[in-house]
Amino acid sequence: MTAQPFVPPPYPYDRLDALAKLAVKHDGGVIDLSIGTPCDPPTSAVVAALSSSNSERGYPPSIGSELLRAAAREWMRRRFAIDVPLGQIAACVGSKEFVATTPQYMKLRRPDRNVVLYPAVSYPTYEMGAILAGCRPVAVPMNSQGGLNLAAIAPADVHDALMLWVNSPSNPTGALDDLAAAAAWGRSHSVPVFSDECYVEFTWTKPGESILQHGLDGVVALHSLSKRSNLAGVRVAFYAGDKNIVNYLKEVRKHVGMMVPGPAQAAGVVALNDDAHVAAQREVYARRLERTARVLSKWSGIDVPQPAGGFYLWFDARDGWAFAERLARDGGALVSPGDFYGAGGANNVRVAVVQPDEKIEMLARRLGA
Ligand SMILES: Cc1ncc(COP(=O)(O)O)c(C=O)c1O
Repeated sequence: MTAQPFVPPPYPYDRLDALAKLAVKHDGGVIDLSIGTPCDPPTSAVVAALSSSNSERGYPPSIGSELLRAAAREWMRRRFAIDVPLGQIAACVGSKEFVATTPQYMKLRRPDRNVVLYPAVSYPTYEMGAILAGCRPVAVPMNSQGGLNLAAIAPADVHDALMLWVNSPSNPTGALDDLAAAAAWGRSHSVPVFSDECYVEFTWTKPGESILQHGLDGVVALHSLSKRSNLAGVRVAFYAGDKNIVNYLKEVRKHVGMMVPGPAQAAGVVALNDDAHVAAQREVYARRLERTARVLSKWSGIDVPQPAGGFYLWFDARDGWAFAERLARDGGALVSPGDFYGAGGANNVRVAVVQPDEKIEMLARRLGA
């Protein structure tokens, strides 16, 4: 069989261009609730650290400076009451690149395995990382609580599994998964479990959890400052967990030249050492989630539930694209049709509450809600 050349699919958000043309006709312009990009500012101390670290000249350590890794360790100690050895923590350039590149490195480590397991309704980069690695992406069905139905994975796929992704709180659903069960499943099947925890600071029904609270062996947690500290433009994230896997990834990523710029690492230290800005941001998202749900529900007559975590509303609109088009036309707002996150999400819509209150009130006025 001849290998087919890889052609990148259209980037999900580029598919919204036609809807943006409808939305822009509104006086006051587009209200963009599609991409989960923060709109609130990082703290001034974090911004100041970007220009005062004196780290511009030399190459930054690929694994992250000792200060950055120590700050990550301390944060995990405060946040989850766990102690992760410094050697089992390393930096990455935001978490998207880690999600997109790790399968190829894991495949080189275990050439006999080629299946990447990921939640059927999820952030699209889990599947894309598998494709870019030449692996076989296998979507794990969701259970009725929005977590992974691990029992539904076919035995042949378990046998060939290179790794499993879990994401809690989930983008897009906001569901909180059973991380103890995911860790136990991975250990019992000898499948490394990668837990994307970038929304962990934003949980609404119970405290956020790390998979590392259930032991470090066989698991890797992925954290990012993009959402926690409104630093998506600076690109600081880290991964931590299983000693062998973290050591392997540290070494291979050095060879690739994966480096968080020094000034960004310095800013990351300041951000990780501060929890007050996160508490304030939580309040902001909680308020926006509640207000936006009320506005959309009143206008559409559709039930818009509050999520258990994250800063997205996720609801059944019967036809995600039709709802998104109607909202662009009537409210000048862009939202993400649920099929961006897998075919199983096609009835749904994801609304990111990443616009300031004034914009959400503008939406309410446009919709007469
Ligand atoms: C589930 C999930 N993981 C990872 C990322 C990537 O974030 P970043 O690369 O900014 O850390 C996102 C961004 O939206 C996300 O939703």
